[in-house]
Amino acid sequence: MVSTYPTGVQQSGRQYLPQRPSTNANLSPNQELLPLTARVNHRDSLEIGGCDVTTLVQQFGSPLYILDEETLRSACRQYRDTLKQYYKGESQVLYASKAWNCLAVCAIAASEGLGIDVVSGGELFTALHAGVSPDKLYLHGNNKSHEELTLAIESGCTIVVDNWYELRTLVSLTANSPAIRIMLRLTPGIECHTHEYIRTGHLDSKFGFDPNALDEVFAFVSQQKSLNCVGVHAHIGSQIFERQPHRDLAAVMVQWLQDAAKYGLTLTELNVGGGLGIKYTESDDPPSIEEWVKAICEVIQTACADENLPLPKLLCEPGRSLIATSCITAYTIGAAKVIPEIRTYVAIDGGMSDNPRPITYQSVYRAVVANKMSAPITETVTIAGKHCESGDILIKNAQLPKTESGDILVVLGTGAYNYSMASNYNRLPRPAAVLVANGEANLILQRETYQDLIRQDCLPERLKK
Ligand code: LLP
Repeated sequence: MVSTYPTGVQQSGRQYLPQRPSTNANLSPNQELLPLTARVNHRDSLEIGGCDVTTLVQQFGSPLYILDEETLRSACRQYRDTLKQYYKGESQVLYASKAWNCLAVCAIAASEGLGIDVVSGGELFTALHAGVSPDKLYLHGNNKSHEELTLAIESGCTIVVDNWYELRTLVSLTANSPAIRIMLRLTPGIECHTHEYIRTGHLDSKFGFDPNALDEVFAFVSQQKSLNCVGVHAHIGSQIFERQPHRDLAAVMVQWLQDAAKYGLTLTELNVGGGLGIKYTESDDPPSIEEWVKAICEVIQTACADENLPLPKLLCEPGRSLIATSCITAYTIGAAKVIPEIRTYVAIDGGMSDNPRPITYQSVYRAVVANKMSAPITETVTIAGKHCESGDILIKNAQLPKTESGDILVVLGTGAYNYSMASNYNRLPRPAAVLVANGEANLILQRETYQDLIRQDCLPERLKK
């Protein structure tokens, strides 16, 4: 019998026994495998936000994203409050909504006082519709279109300028109009240990101005009346467990503030990006939100004191560590294929279309069987998606109780870059998402229908029968 468990100290050979303090307030969500409200109820079933997961699937269908409001709000508050606690200057947390951009998530983040980082016209449009105040919206992107830039200018959000082309475009778009707020994204030249696709701070990156061109950029920007440059931005990568790269980044960025001053630019905002990792499996050991925030605040405060600089307004942009742990994906188990002495495949009713991370980044996930929480773990199986693609495997060698078709398999930590990267591959409709809190479940994203799938299709007249 295998005895590895999703969380806490569980030693009875069962899948999961919640062993949590009576209050969850001090748990850093990114260090947990399950949402903070997870518990096993009298039906031996997993409950999130006071809602029985198996019942939710009966009500809302399968697969289903289940988002726990308490965990999400707790992460927002931990970022916001620890930044206030450790940083003596002004601060603002922005939610990097590329992790999961939809009306409800933007509205929750904004209601906790967070601003929103958006990376496209679509994300900006959604955040504005969620009622997020434009002065707390920051538009990123390495190739923003004229349409996106115009929407940003008209709505009054801050534009994080990535390159010369964009800078010049903005100068022409804003000629004779009131000055707009911009920040400059720079490449810090910092390496960190994460998947090569999600590293952004090293010199050979498509994002940001080359730091060697810094003088030229500052000199140019200082001459533009229509561009009110308020600060600098950098982001070094995602799913990072070490604290040193972020410390190095903070130090480099304070240096940039000084460099800008040489050109008469008084930069008052410094945005260190996001990147804090989360615990996807037992072997992941990320720092807590508080530890990450504290490390950055210390470096900036020390560097500014050493250089006799006033403290800039400090912004950070967490995505994954803010939302990943608050969501699980529930699937229904269907077929199983046993290949004696080789492998058992257990197939579920979703896969790479609702979670493309395993096939894209070889990400490893943890799962439990929601309707059999106390059953002993006896099997090692591979969880296969339903797509016509051999690589559509969600988890290799998952340790589970004996499963049968109809069981509800729950994959943990799916709040970040799952729905937002979901596709209709093989024409699978995207699943629904529900928000759970205090025993209530509200639909936040409808399940797509087959009609939705053909909504954008056009059949030329001559092909019609
Ligand atoms: N700020 C900027 C400018 C970013 O590019 C990103 C992520 C973030 C903030 C948020 O980073 P986080 O706190 O989530 O690590 N699809 C990949 C992740 C790509 C991250 C892109 N940028 C994945 O599924 O792992």
